[in-house]
This record gives sequence, structure tokens and C-alpha cells, in this order.
Amino acid sequence: MGRIIAVSNQKGGVGKTTTTVNLGASLAAAEQRVLIVDFDPQGNASSGLGIDKSLQDNTVYELILGQTTIQRVALATELPTLRVIPADPRLAGAEVELVDLGEREYRLAKALAPAVEDYDYILMDTPPSLGLLTVNALVAAQSVLVPIQCEYYALEGLSQLLNTIHLVQQRLNPDLRLEGVLLTMFDQRLRLSRQVAEEAKEYFGDKVYKTVIPRNVTLGESPSFGRPVILHDAQSRGAVAYLELASEVLSHDQARIG
Ligand SMILES: Nc1ncnc2c1ncn2[C@@H]1O[C@H](COP(=O)(O)OP(=O)(O)OP(=O)(O)O)[C@@H](O)[C@H]1O
Ligand SMILES: [Mg+2]
Repeated sequence: MGRIIAVSNQKGGVGKTTTTVNLGASLAAAEQRVLIVDFDPQGNASSGLGIDKSLQDNTVYELILGQTTIQRVALATELPTLRVIPADPRLAGAEVELVDLGEREYRLAKALAPAVEDYDYILMDTPPSLGLLTVNALVAAQSVLVPIQCEYYALEGLSQLLNTIHLVQQRLNPDLRLEGVLLTMFDQRLRLSRQVAEEAKEYFGDKVYKTVIPRNVTLGESPSFGRPVILHDAQSRGAVAYLELASEVLSHDQARIG
């Protein structure tokens, strides 16, 4: 059975989408069958994988409303074992519309259930908020991967996220775990970066991935080519870092199974 991971942090711009796209692509490069679910109305994971939003009326929005099937909505990408369910701005409406529908927190979990056997990894990108969309992703997930940007106030607000995870565990998804904490946009030269890394390790211990994602221009520019960084420039430091993260995730999972 596939692993289902939500990539979440209600703080904006910390590297959620970059991590979803590039961890997903790196796992696919390691011959894993990967499904990326874009669950953010901004649709950045979709465009970052070269999906033209204007072509879509077949998105995760229709999927959670039961108007399309997962087979129809999971689109091919340049990597043969990587598929993506795209999102567009209409998904923002779901935040309100779902309130009146039954089992509103379980919509995404139910929609993904038929596909769980078809993938080794399902990665969900979430919006920078703790609203109903993020809750749907946390209910569908087995675990949460939290990217932390090595910047001022990086850890501030994390208690809110941990609190939401806790509430979801208590009421909706008792098996939800913390998958890991990923340091992003790390700059070795900056004392601040090193400080954030230290604090994160004090707080989260061995939940912090050994792999640290450096601040890297290539990572920032590859979405504008609609490609994950390993296809844009495989030699770049960003590409190497996400490939290393994929190995770390795979080896954790092998240790857990074996
Ligand atoms: N390691 C990195 N080095 C350089 N730029 C990066 C890195 N990671 C992300 N970026 C850039 O920083 C910006 C924010 O990253 P990203 O979109 O992944 O964050 P996010 O958490 O998904 O944001 P949002 O909360 O808006 O969804 C983007 O322009 C992205 O290209
Ligand atoms: Mg994003």
C-alpha cells in the first residue's frame, strides 16, 4: 500500500510546493510510482509540473465534489511514473462549499482511496492556511512533512500547526504521524540559518531530516520552465539535495517495513 504524505505549514512561502514537486519527481526518478495532489487553489504544483491551468475543467475540485474519477483527473507528466492531479483557483470555493456537504473533512480521503494501491507515494501540497482544505489533506494523510524555512520567525506559528495535527488525530484521523521536518532555503554562511537549524533539532530531535535543502537559484527558476529541478538542471545543488531527500525518505520507509 502506498504512503500518503501531506506537505504542510500554514506559513506562506516556506517551500511546501517546491518540496512536493521535487521530492515527488526525485522519488519517481528512483522508480517509485508517485501521485502529486495539488490541493492549493494557487495551483503552483500544477504549473511547476507543466500543466496548463487554462486547459483544465478536470481538477481536484471536481474530484472532491464527485464529478470526475481519479483515473481521469491524474495527468501524466514528463516523468513516466509521476502523475499529478491539478488544482486551479476554483478550489478556493470548495473551502466554503464543502461546509454544507456531508463528511466535509473526508472528501479528499474518500476521493483518493481507490488509487492508494496504484502508487508507492501520494504527496499532497497544501495551501498556507489551516482551513478546511488543509484539514482534508491531514485526514487523507498517514503522515505530515513540515518544511521550515531557515529565516526569521521560522518556528513561530508551528505550535498552531502541531495543535491542528493533534486535533485531527483526536477527532478525525488517529493514525496521523509527523513524517519529518525539512529545513529549506538554508544558507550555510548565515548565522541565522544555522540558528534555526539548531532550534529545530532541539525541538523536533531526530524528526529533522539529515538532508537540508540549500537556498539555490535553480530551484527558484525551474517552475517557470514547468519542470522539476532534476529535469531542468540535474547537477544543481537543489537537484542533488532533493534526490538525497528522496533516498532518506525511502530508507526510513524501508527501515519501517523491514
Ligand atoms: N531552496 C530554495 N532556494 C531558492 N528558492 C526557493 C527554494 N525553495 C523555494 N524557493 C522559492 O521560494 C518561493 C516559495 O517557495 P514555495 O512556493 O515552494 O513555498 P510554499 O510554501 O509552497 O508557498 P505558499 O505558501 O505560497 O504555497 C518560490 O518562489 C520558490 O521557487
Ligand atoms: Mg505552495
